Amino acid sequence: MSPFFFIQLADPQFGMFAARSKLTDEGIEKELLKGCKVIPTGPISGLDKERQLFAQAIGEANRLRPAFVVVCGDMVHTNSPSEWKELLEVAGTLDPSIPIHWVPGNHDIGGLSTKEAMDSLYSYREMFEANYSAFQHQEASFIILDSTAICNKPPLPDEWDAQLAFVEKELAAAASRGGPTIVFSHHPAFLKSPDEPDDYWNMPLRYRVPLLQRLRTANVKAMFCGHWHRNNYTSYSDMEVVVSGPVGYPLAKDPSGYRIVKVNSENIEHEYYGFGAGPSSVLDLVNSTQLSIHVDNV
Ligand SMILES: [Fe+2]
Repeated sequence: MSPFFFIQLADPQFGMFAARSKLTDEGIEKELLKGCKVIPTGPISGLDKERQLFAQAIGEANRLRPAFVVVCGDMVHTNSPSEWKELLEVAGTLDPSIPIHWVPGNHDIGGLSTKEAMDSLYSYREMFEANYSAFQHQEASFIILDSTAICNKPPLPDEWDAQLAFVEKELAAAASRGGPTIVFSHHPAFLKSPDEPDDYWNMPLRYRVPLLQRLRTANVKAMFCGHWHRNNYTSYSDMEVVVSGPVGYPLAKDPSGYRIVKVNSENIEHEYYGFGAGPSSVLDLVNSTQLSIHVDNV
């Protein structure tokens, strides 16, 4: 397998700047108590800010020419047609020779009732064909999870059972290809420890443990995620669990940006770049003998 690289994006979240610019003092205090920063932008309406940031991400992909781009969820904030329209307009400026893969987030699929959640899921499938899927590049295998099925309230357990059967089938197919396997999910399985308690930012333990067991047995190299709007690095056995900062609104010190992931048959390397701090090119694809490294360039 010849070395290649891809670009991982997360949380372009069209509409989030305007929503957070309308927070009351009480709302801001709640966010700060949760450890999420609020940027003093002044009143914002419209989607110009997200449009400009996502255009930078797509511009970097057009310049650097990855094997593919993957967007790890929360494409939009309120799930309105105008947000999707603007997002897809910018995505349409990606060079057509570079594939783009979409991973659903909790702002893209969900509802207050099971019926609303299912309707939202059907709308997503109409737009993107599938909410979970798999693809390959050379012998490397990639699996896209829809973590909203287990992380949203209400969850959709039947949808998750079907997805887990799909994952098992794809992991078996990946093993026969022999290349590395990488998983994409909006929600990370966990942030610090595989047995940490359930919260808004991770997968519920009752679903997390069986998933992690399957991924470990299949020797999955890494899970790349979004959702937390900041970088985070941890691992489960030899599998890295990487959370990337947002294309859109940052909730901590990591700025808006993107991650470059280099893959060869032996290992992966990845680095996060704030917009404006990206490399002039990605040439050093034959990497070191380390299992993996990560660097933040911000
Ligand atoms: Fe998000």
